[in-house]
Amino acid sequence: MDFYNFWVPLFILATLGCCSQGSLLLSDKIKGIVGKNVTFKTTITSTTGLLTIAWNFNKEQVEPIITHIPSSNNTNIDDKYKGRISYNTTTCELQLGPLMKEDEGEYILSIVTAKGTQQSGQVDLEVLEPVTDVKISSNLPEAIEFNSTVILTCSAKGSFSYKWLNGSVPLEVDGTHTKLNQTGNELTITEVRRTDLRGPIVCIAENALESGRSAPFNLTVSYGPEKIAMTQTPTDSFLKKGSNLVLTCSADSDPPAQLRWMFNGAELLQMANITIPNVEEKDSGNYSCVAYNAKTKRNVASPVALVTVLEALSGTNISSSTSRLIAGNSTVNLTCSAAAGKAETVEWLKDSKPLTPSGRVILSTDKKSLTIVQVVKEDAGDYKCQMKNKVNMDEASYKMVISYGPENVKLEGKKNVKFEELVEIKCSAESVPLSVYAWKLNGTVMNISQAVYRIEKAKGTDTGTYTCKAINPVTGMEKEATFNLAVTEVGAVDEGLSGGAIAGIVIAVLVAVIIIACIIKRKRKSGTDIPSPY
Ligand SMILES: *[C@@H]1O[C@H](CO)[C@@H](O)[C@H](O)[C@H]1NC(C)=O
Ligand SMILES: *[C@@H]1O[C@H](CO)[C@@H](O)[C@H](O)[C@H]1NC(C)=O
Ligand SMILES: *[C@@H]1O[C@H](CO)[C@@H](O)[C@H](O)[C@H]1NC(C)=O
Ligand SMILES: *[C@@H]1O[C@H](CO)[C@@H](O)[C@H](O)[C@H]1NC(C)=O
Ligand SMILES: *[C@@H]1O[C@H](CO)[C@@H](O)[C@H](O)[C@H]1NC(C)=O
Ligand SMILES: *[C@@H]1O[C@H](CO)[C@@H](O)[C@H](O)[C@H]1NC(C)=O
Ligand SMILES: *[C@@H]1O[C@H](CO)[C@@H](O)[C@H](O)[C@H]1NC(C)=O
Ligand SMILES: *[C@@H]1O[C@H](CO)[C@@H](O)[C@H](O)[C@H]1NC(C)=O
Ligand SMILES: *[C@@H]1O[C@H](CO)[C@@H](O)[C@H](O)[C@H]1NC(C)=O
Ligand SMILES: *[C@@H]1O[C@H](CO)[C@@H](O)[C@H](O)[C@H]1NC(C)=O
Repeated sequence: MDFYNFWVPLFILATLGCCSQGSLLLSDKIKGIVGKNVTFKTTITSTTGLLTIAWNFNKEQVEPIITHIPSSNNTNIDDKYKGRISYNTTTCELQLGPLMKEDEGEYILSIVTAKGTQQSGQVDLEVLEPVTDVKISSNLPEAIEFNSTVILTCSAKGSFSYKWLNGSVPLEVDGTHTKLNQTGNELTITEVRRTDLRGPIVCIAENALESGRSAPFNLTVSYGPEKIAMTQTPTDSFLKKGSNLVLTCSADSDPPAQLRWMFNGAELLQMANITIPNVEEKDSGNYSCVAYNAKTKRNVASPVALVTVLEALSGTNISSSTSRLIAGNSTVNLTCSAAAGKAETVEWLKDSKPLTPSGRVILSTDKKSLTIVQVVKEDAGDYKCQMKNKVNMDEASYKMVISYGPENVKLEGKKNVKFEELVEIKCSAESVPLSVYAWKLNGTVMNISQAVYRIEKAKGTDTGTYTCKAINPVTGMEKEATFNLAVTEVGAVDEGLSGGAIAGIVIAVLVAVIIIACIIKRKRKSGTDIPSPY
């Protein structure tokens, strides 16, 4: 049978559109990929009752693919399709492949039933290129934070649309910092930030049937230096001469910053950490650290540390113009000085309390000299001079002794004592230094220099006027006090008498006896007119 003559009426039937009982085909659009197969699915489940089945391809003109007559189980495949199709005689489904771009077009299935009814269906095939070689390329090999505009272009072979991933999540563009062009394969990142491209970024090229991923892309974005941090140890801005100064510097930067230290505006050392041992006054000045990133070409300077090196105060001493101070007469000048270091403040304390200057107590303007005019005894005490500067405090003490007196010379003791009683007479005087004492009894010098005169057993001869003279060996002043002691002898008999007393009494008794005897004798010689001695 002539093939052409066979299919033309079928084609005519098809183009007339004679579908009466629903669609023959499952879909009217289908996609395939170059090199892969595609199957046109039908709703037919059996060819029973069908006279002819034909598949045609309609591009510029209608071309036959296959005709099938179930009654004779005859299939007729066009030469062009031999080896490229497979046909299911039960379902009438047609598989085509490997696909070429030229296979794109409309495929028509037409059937004629034994009863003579005709029906047809069409499906449009779109043939897509396979996705291969998905790649991201960058306009820059490396970028500088905030300065570079990075343009990433995704390229691939085949037909597709594009998607981007940032890490594992879809990349979102904000339209200003990040932008995608209309085709979606050009990602522009203006003023790139260090974290923008660390995702890593992945481009996906995909079509309805398949997709391809690019290799993860990351780009080093140089940044910094920033967050420059310097430390100074010790942290004080005033340092003791001889101490060690340690300076450290760090900055956040990629690539790592070059760090260098500046001293009074000039470069000191190209190092992050420096130690200046045994600092001297000449090391005083302004220290700062500068960080430089060779890629970003940015310099950042740390705050300036102003360091002042001072000699510590030591060997503080108080010297006195004179050590012999006499109340009411002497003027003293105390001078405070340090063997090393310069004092910024000088403070004086007396007996641990701040010294209050007065008309007599005068501090020099530099407060280093303390002059006390006409000292009084209350000026005596512990003087302290405290010298301070920014690095330390040093102090010295001085004990001030004021000689005065004697004053208030007193003699004390029991004034009336009995015979053989213990007697203590005490002489006292207010005096610095202590006075020495000279004693007298009834104006006669006694051989005593102690403050206390002690008589174990008083006797009559101890009665009298005692005089104590206090003599201050430094002031040379002396003062006296007197004291009358009476030793009572009455009642001595009861207690036994001394030999002399007994003798006196015996003599007195004898005298009385003799006198009485003479009177009696004279009274017996009555004629004689011897006048009585009484
Ligand atoms: C594609 O179709 C050809 C020819 O019909 C066949 O040889 C091949 O096995 C099919 N491939 C697949 C994956 O079905
Ligand atoms: C035709 O399709 C039917 C249903 O899908 C299947 O059972 C049968 O094996 C197919 N026949 C051929 C020759 O592929
Ligand atoms: C998007 O960018 C790509 C690559 O630069 C370019 O080929 C394409 O034409 C651009 N698309 C549009 C719509 O500008
Ligand atoms: C990717 O995500 C990170 C945070 O996860 C974000 O900082 C970065 O800006 C994103 N990159 C882009 C190009 O949007
Ligand atoms: C991306 O990052 C990985 C691991 O972090 C690294 O090995 C690789 O060299 C980076 N690629 C680029 C282009 O920087
Ligand atoms: C250190 O800096 C201060 C102000 O910051 C300035 O007054 C001083 O002169 C500087 N000293 C030197 C030695 O440069
Ligand atoms: C950063 O950008 C400015 C102008 O936008 C340019 O002058 C400068 O050289 C750039 N910096 C670097 C390190 O490229
Ligand atoms: C006290 O002594 C210092 C040092 O010797 C001297 O400079 C100062 O003038 C003296 N002051 C008086 C009031 O004498
Ligand atoms: C001292 O004088 C008193 C009275 O003048 C006299 O009683 C006493 O005996 C005298 N004492 C001595 C030791 O001379
Ligand atoms: C007091 O000072 C005067 C002169 O300054 C001196 O002549 C006199 O001896 C002094 N007195 C004492 C008790 O030192």
